[in-house]
Amino acid sequence: MELTIQKAETLKPLPNDSELGFGTIFTDHMFNMDYNQEKGWHNPRIEPYQPIVMDPSTMVLHYGQSIFEGLKAFKTPSGGIQVFRPTENFKRFNRSGHRLCMPPLDEEFALKAMMELLKVDQRWVPSTPGTSLYIRPTIIAMDPYIGVRASYTYRFFIIMSPVGAYYAEGFNPVKIWVTDKYVRAVRGGMGEVKTAGNYAASIYAGEEAHRLGYTQVLWLDGVELKYIEEVGSMNIFFVIDDEIITPALSGSILSGITRDTVKLLAEKWGNPVTERRLSIDELTAAHEAGKLQEIFGSGTAAVISPVGEVMYKDKIMKVGDGSVGKWSQKFFNAITDIQYGNLEDTDGWNQPLE
Ligand code: COI
Repeated sequence: MELTIQKAETLKPLPNDSELGFGTIFTDHMFNMDYNQEKGWHNPRIEPYQPIVMDPSTMVLHYGQSIFEGLKAFKTPSGGIQVFRPTENFKRFNRSGHRLCMPPLDEEFALKAMMELLKVDQRWVPSTPGTSLYIRPTIIAMDPYIGVRASYTYRFFIIMSPVGAYYAEGFNPVKIWVTDKYVRAVRGGMGEVKTAGNYAASIYAGEEAHRLGYTQVLWLDGVELKYIEEVGSMNIFFVIDDEIITPALSGSILSGITRDTVKLLAEKWGNPVTERRLSIDELTAAHEAGKLQEIFGSGTAAVISPVGEVMYKDKIMKVGDGSVGKWSQKFFNAITDIQYGNLEDTDGWNQPLE
């Protein structure tokens, strides 16, 4: 398949690195490719960033048949550009697509197209520490039809956004609220899939968390409301009595790539992460016994986000002494040092832009 490139006639002014938040500014170009049953995936093209014109009956607008990924490109000290573990994202993208009844992508081609887009918009990769170019591959159902079934046509697009920290708190501890009223996902549902509906399902409780003065919601399992799952924008880790624990993937938890990176690093450092079920009662008991040393989240957007406070029912659990914990700092440093090219990438996690 031949990838065509149509360059924008005028380029946008670049934002100031110091003003970057998350996800509000987009680069000059985007990638688009279409699918129909006759031609399969076809017409791959890089073109100026532009609206997608669609019929009001377009299926994605009604039933949310939509998947996405999130990955980041970083500027290295020598001025190079590299993307962190992109093959993992495209593998997961196809797994999500399978669950949403979408036709699979040629992962190698999709990655190549993304790297081409990055090449065209490389001036947008910011260089200040803590900043990066966030890349958002997405597939949406395009049939103009309001019956419920899998669409016969799709659009695959990639947009890119220069970003700073995901949370306003930056790398400072965030406060999370455990809801025992709402659930995000159930086993057999779509919790492990990167699909729009999971995020839509999280918004109402997220608003309640904000009203209570908390940044994010910590979700419990959707059946017993007992076992800890994830935060929604990140996976979650606990350090209890010197053991690093993360909820085992249950079918309703996203298989995070940063989660996997934390696991691999911990293993390498001789402190393997225990993946198991962890109940909110066990967490509360560990806190009461003075054994809860750290909590941190992991995600592409959030990287490593220390958690300083958890509220469950009427109980407020302060974690550690309120400052960034030892493990949070160690994982954050190692991951960002590898991503920015300050530490040798012994595992081949970075894909350089040639
Ligand atoms: C990411 O971390 O890349 C995500 O997709 C989470 C999203 C809520 C920003």
